[in-house]
Amino acid sequence: MELYRLLQQQGFGSRKECRQLIDYGLVAVDGETIDDWRAPVEPAAIRQLTVDGEDWPLLTLPLYLLLHKPANFETSHKPIHHPSVYRLLPPQLNNLGISAVGRLDVDTTGLLLFSSDGQFVHALTSPKKQVPKLYRVTTKHPVSAELLQRLRDGVLLHDENETLAADSAEQVADCVLDMAITQGKYHQVKRMVAAAGNRVEQLHRLALGAVTLGELPPGQWRHLTAAELAALGFGPA
Ligand code: URA
Repeated sequence: MELYRLLQQQGFGSRKECRQLIDYGLVAVDGETIDDWRAPVEPAAIRQLTVDGEDWPLLTLPLYLLLHKPANFETSHKPIHHPSVYRLLPPQLNNLGISAVGRLDVDTTGLLLFSSDGQFVHALTSPKKQVPKLYRVTTKHPVSAELLQRLRDGVLLHDENETLAADSAEQVADCVLDMAITQGKYHQVKRMVAAAGNRVEQLHRLALGAVTLGELPPGQWRHLTAAELAALGFGPA
């Protein structure tokens, strides 16, 4: 493969931009600057790619990413009032056609997946797949046994013609509960908690299926592991 094609595949921009990076002497392979954009390279054999002075670990495509979404970011390519969650990812990754797997509200924090694999995004957002999403919910009023029971039994939301039930709802502290849902309707957790007689003050997603946020700090991202992909039903274990 020609070197500029590799840079394109790694998200460094258009053919022209990638050729320019090489022409300007900004690209080194295994420590050696290469200024011929036609130079043949064997991606699997590259130990170190350096672009504009920074090491670039070669990406394996398609991309599967996990972000710890902070509050005050919109899950949209065209945000209106707040910056986009996509700004929290390197521009090279944004050049590779990634989409968020579902949405989190602007004030919701926690686990948000992204992928450049359209089938993955579609499958995980499809109601058929029924992947449980686990949320930590901070409520305005103390959590009661009745609230938990109503959430487990199912509540009727405004504008919905069927009741929606939590897969699980467990008290964690006075005004905190953990709740799992499989559907992904608009403001679903907030609306369910309101319909059950309380109010959401803070919402944080802890897990999607077997994939958990773990200790990843807010605003940071990482690649999903092969084991996590397999647990979501993609690829070998
Ligand atoms: N439910 C909500 O109400 N908001 C979210 O961001 C996610 C689930």
